[in-house]
Amino acid sequence: MSAAMSHAPTRAFNSLVTHGWNRLARAYDIPVVQRVAYRPPQDEIIAQLRQSDVRQIADVGCGTGILASRIQQDLKPDVVYGCDASVGMLRQAKARSSSVNWVNRRAEDLGLPDGAVDAVVSTHAFHFFDHPAALAEFHRILSLGGLLAIVLINPRHRFAQLLQPTSMQNVAYFPSPDAMRSLVEAAGFRITEQRAVRRPLPAPFVPDVLTVARRG
Ligand SMILES: C[S@@+](CC[C@H](N)C(=O)[O-])C[C@H]1O[C@@H](n2cnc3c(N)ncnc32)[C@H](O)[C@@H]1O
Repeated sequence: MSAAMSHAPTRAFNSLVTHGWNRLARAYDIPVVQRVAYRPPQDEIIAQLRQSDVRQIADVGCGTGILASRIQQDLKPDVVYGCDASVGMLRQAKARSSSVNWVNRRAEDLGLPDGAVDAVVSTHAFHFFDHPAALAEFHRILSLGGLLAIVLINPRHRFAQLLQPTSMQNVAYFPSPDAMRSLVEAAGFRITEQRAVRRPLPAPFVPDVLTVARRG
């Protein structure tokens, strides 16, 4: 499935952002980057999915497809969708696995049928999305009671404040954990858990938070 013309709202300059990820795609899979920054939240998401016994899963903002491919291999669900707006990131994802359904669409307009999945997950991508539009889309494609699990940086952390200069807010915005709760609840979800991502070593530069909810 590939990107189509859509009227769904997006964050400002999102096309430029996702085009930028086309260029960054090659550097993205460097093992040390993955191990330090991205692997721990992915482990947390796999654990959440495992304990929920879900069968149809969408990873939104899947990047080069590491998490979506792990979900497919480790959990063997009926179907995994790996969705991303960047063609370059998805090119690497496609080379990684032919068992995942790679979807070149925006989070705000995924193009999947209503109730198509029983879990939506997203790691380190939500800050690029138009939050209300993306959450409405996650609600639409999830079945009743479906699982939502999102990891993003906590902007209250001293280091993370550097990531959120005012002039950048339209391009990428990191809601605080409280703001995330409000956004998720306003979209029709019930929060079940929210906490810092567990990391084997202290990682002061990656202060990320996991928010888990169920679709009402
Ligand atoms: C930092 S990468 C995270 C990739 C992956 N989730 C991970 O944890 O390794 C952010 C990804 O979000 C994607 N992205 C940005 N805006 C998007 C949007 N509106 N819809 C879908 N994907 C988007 C980018 O193309 C990029 O691949």
